[in-house]
Amino acid sequence: MGAGEISSTHITALKALADCVDVVAVCDLDLAKARAFQQQNGIPAVFASLGAMLEETRPNVVHVLLPPPVHASASETCLSAGSHVFVEKPFCLSLEECHHVRALAKREGLQIGVNHNLTFMPSFLALLDAIRFCRLGTLEQVQVIFTIPMPSLGSGPHTQWMFSATERLLFELGPHPLSIPCRLLGRVTRASTAVSGEMKLSNGTRFFSNWQTSLVCERGNAQCTLAVGSGYFAAAVHVIGQDAEALVDLRRNTFQLIEKTRYLRADDMVNGWTNAYGLVRRSLSNFKAYAMGAAGLCPPYLQQNLSVNASIAAFYRALAAGRTPRIDGAEGTAVVEACEMVADSAFAFLTNQEGRVVAG
Ligand SMILES: NC(=O)c1ccc[n+]([C@@H]2O[C@H](COP(=O)([O-])OP(=O)(O)OC[C@H]3O[C@@H](n4cnc5c(N)ncnc54)[C@H](O)[C@@H]3O)[C@@H](O)[C@H]2O)c1
Repeated sequence: MGAGEISSTHITALKALADCVDVVAVCDLDLAKARAFQQQNGIPAVFASLGAMLEETRPNVVHVLLPPPVHASASETCLSAGSHVFVEKPFCLSLEECHHVRALAKREGLQIGVNHNLTFMPSFLALLDAIRFCRLGTLEQVQVIFTIPMPSLGSGPHTQWMFSATERLLFELGPHPLSIPCRLLGRVTRASTAVSGEMKLSNGTRFFSNWQTSLVCERGNAQCTLAVGSGYFAAAVHVIGQDAEALVDLRRNTFQLIEKTRYLRADDMVNGWTNAYGLVRRSLSNFKAYAMGAAGLCPPYLQQNLSVNASIAAFYRALAAGRTPRIDGAEGTAVVEACEMVADSAFAFLTNQEGRVVAG
């Protein structure tokens, strides 16, 4: 459902699951776009209406790859027709919408999966393994940096949904960094946010390119930075536990664990040696994948595909085993709740700042 930008990443992941998944149809309001996607990918049927697609093909699963404002209504239509849903982030746009969709899935006995793909990067999965094997001890602090260039920000046109109101950038891109503390530390219970980099977009929207937030979560504290329009793409996580710290570079898919060792003051050298070996090995393997992709010997090397492939495969594995997906409606809701808290605290920050200026 939706033949836009992200649909090609999903179809790549589904083709890799060809032994257990058949793609039966594609649907988009824009029929010409859906037809082009159908032909490119050899999909049997094409529709411009979700209702017609559900009635004629009765799919087991629908991937909801639509703009965020229609995630809830499209998911409800699919669930009512008896299909499981796999929804792109953000799951929905409010807690109320999340609760409705989840209640419907529960009544119908169907599953919801949400694509928080950064939490499926192999380097992030390595972190989860290290936590599971008690290498870090109890987690205390998590820091997430997510800064991306966005050429359309300066030049416009600002027609995309995320540019149509101040908080929409956060709902569109915030789930990437915010899904990390929710995965590691549980639900966010309090947020305090500062925004900067104010601009007025060509459509009149008041826009902030930097969002820095401190979060208190159920099992620890986190800090997240979301910045757009910067010159450099960085996506990284720094985790401090009682026994060790970990650095996950999501952009380069590398993982480093720095732990207390029995070598006393030689700790740094031992950690440096082991991590350097891992970094060199991973960098060489990234380069090999890139070079083979560029030479046309294998599919192009895109970091996003690594995480989306793993996220979609995990969803279908859970369905096949009759288990709740790892990133289900509950975790999707936790991330939407975090987005709401960050947005509310950012508006409180602005009111406070403006109050000070007036008072001054
Ligand atoms: N996980 C990621 O890394 C990632 C990356 C990009 C986008 N996304 C998410 O994927 C979703 C889709 O984003 P996109 O970039 O592909 O958007 P897009 O605008 O490129 O595509 C959306 C498509 O949905 C169609 N559409 C809109 N309303 C419809 C309706 N009611 N019925 C049928 N079709 C309809 C449009 O015609 C369009 O083709 C968003 O939730 C976005 O946040 C995720």
